[in-house]
Amino acid sequence: MKNTVTTLQKQKEEGKKISMLTCYDYTTACLMEKAGINAILVGDSLGMTMMGYDDTLPVTMEDMIHHTACVARGLKDVFLVADMPFLSYQTSDYDAVKNAGRLIKEGHAQAVKLEGGASVCRQIEAITKADIPVVAHIGLTPQSINAFGGFKVQGKNEERARQLIEDAKAVEAAGAFMVTLECVPAKLADLITKELHIPTIGIGASAGCDGQVLVYQDMLNMFDGLKPKFVKHYANIGEEMVNAFRAYDEDVKAMSFPEAEHTFKIDEELMEKLSREA
Ligand code: KIV
Repeated sequence: MKNTVTTLQKQKEEGKKISMLTCYDYTTACLMEKAGINAILVGDSLGMTMMGYDDTLPVTMEDMIHHTACVARGLKDVFLVADMPFLSYQTSDYDAVKNAGRLIKEGHAQAVKLEGGASVCRQIEAITKADIPVVAHIGLTPQSINAFGGFKVQGKNEERARQLIEDAKAVEAAGAFMVTLECVPAKLADLITKELHIPTIGIGASAGCDGQVLVYQDMLNMFDGLKPKFVKHYANIGEEMVNAFRAYDEDVKAMSFPEAEHTFKIDEELMEKLSREA
């Protein structure tokens, strides 16, 4: 069944949880499609996972369009969301609509995601007026890392908790059809989920959210570095890959790869003739 804004909303209403993963390339997109994941996010986390930056701030519209289009070619039923990178929507409503439109037209996404609460409601309204579905993102918003002073849990004191509830209600009123809650205390995420009509997608939030999202390299344990508390490892793909690369390296050096079955034949007489002439 094709996932759409309507089916995702229906899942919330029927209490059926929404699965979402990040993805940045065609091969992985095909595998997630096969697994029956509801939605894919081409996150600007690709700046860190695919490009090796320390944070998401250097990611450009061109990076996002390139990776979104690669993912789109692998999908049939999965709903595709693309992140709007830093300064592609904060600068003006015009920039927000123009850049959201590019992710739809050139990247073939079905919706865009942007970070922020009440402060970006004008942009959310402008983009939804252009009939582009918007996913909001509140709590820990990595594009604000310099303002936050690091990757920290949000909404822990009364003032910040109230602010998060207001932000969630504001983005819903502005027209967002879904909202990501990142690094928010579980009980606060549950309350927000109960208060909103649109689905909430948690990352470092609560099982009570309407769905969950994880960065796929995190859940496959492909990184040696940062291991956030909220990540669960579903496989040790990083270790599997290193073992395979090591085995290949050894085979090549021992000349045990390629074997006869991996090579192509040529007519023996022709080879003899060529050898004589050489
Ligand atoms: O960029 C990203 O991958 C995200 C998720 C972590 C929600 O925004």
